Amino acid sequence: MTKITAAITAVGKYVPEYVLTNKELESYVDTNDEWITSRTGIKERRILKGEGLGTSYMAIKSAEDLIRKAKINPEEIDLVIVGTATPDLPVASTAAYVASEIGATNAFSYDLQAACSSFLFGMSSAASYIESGRYKKVLLIGADKMSSILDYTDRATCIIFGDGAGAVLFEPNKENLGLQDEYLRSDGIGRDFLRIEAGGSIMPPTEETVKEKKHFVYQEGKTVFKYAVSNMADVSEKMLTRNSLTEEDIQWLVPHQANKRIIEATAKRVGVGSEKVMMNIQRYGNTTSATLPLLLADYENQLKKGDNLIFAAFGGGFTWGAIYLKWAYNS
Ligand code: UT7
Repeated sequence: MTKITAAITAVGKYVPEYVLTNKELESYVDTNDEWITSRTGIKERRILKGEGLGTSYMAIKSAEDLIRKAKINPEEIDLVIVGTATPDLPVASTAAYVASEIGATNAFSYDLQAACSSFLFGMSSAASYIESGRYKKVLLIGADKMSSILDYTDRATCIIFGDGAGAVLFEPNKENLGLQDEYLRSDGIGRDFLRIEAGGSIMPPTEETVKEKKHFVYQEGKTVFKYAVSNMADVSEKMLTRNSLTEEDIQWLVPHQANKRIIEATAKRVGVGSEKVMMNIQRYGNTTSATLPLLLADYENQLKKGDNLIFAAFGGGFTWGAIYLKWAYNS
């Protein structure tokens, strides 16, 4: 019997229109374009403006882009997973709303939260459902409205993040294309270094927590940077050694877009030149759950059937990992 693998067969994306430049940030906090560019690689990021618009707005747009491009009938989708750290509401599933709005009326749906690794971990979940033979079409969306949890007077965080969404469709494949291997990790030691302190079950919201700005993202950048560099490089290298791949076998490195210096360090360890590294951090900043699918959407035209891709991510928790995937189509 032929083994069923789980392949990505379509991608879609959405980024909001509003462009927040480094120049504009100079008017909010004590920073400058030169510092942001040289320390992070970011030139601008997108921000979702508009009353009542949350993460689902972008998730829906990215899914609609995929559905339009791939010409699929949304009623055939079995499952919708939304990877996000910024759900529309703390309790009601964002994915359930997204699935209904895109017409995936026969799907079940849920959110997956692993901070910046949400999409990477979601790839593992989506692929498992396909490989088991249980479902045929799994829509995985990574979407975050990071601007909703940022303090625009904190220069340590507000310069880094942006808003956006990307979607991919996983389907069964009989040519051994799609997900080949994964190495996913987590370590709770990280939660002191990158977190939102209040609003959860430990510290429910009060007047004080709002006054003390405890509902915004806090990050000890230097520590997170150190862990991100060594861990993303370690897991990426593991994907190569475990699958007897050399750098020549790799067509693309698809790294989480948190900092250009982290991306470059990972590429160096994997041994690939910059021409093989997907990068769009300069335009979008760190969109958390959306970085990986936004890369796929931006590079889709350059991807060829059979290309070997190494995905890598690192995020709050800590959570991190790498996935080795063979691309399944020419666009
Ligand atoms: O996606 C989830 C995982 N997240 C990450 O992977 C993020 C990891 N961390 C980083 O990317 C970097 O640590 C940052 C970009 C957040 C910060 O860069 P850094 O090179 O680690 O800077 P730093 O925090 O060590 O600060 C260096 C200096 C400090 O000044 P002094 O003490 O040397 O005088 C900061 O006060 O730069 C100063 N600084 C700034 N200056 C201008 C910090 N932020 C800014 C700023 N503009 N926005």
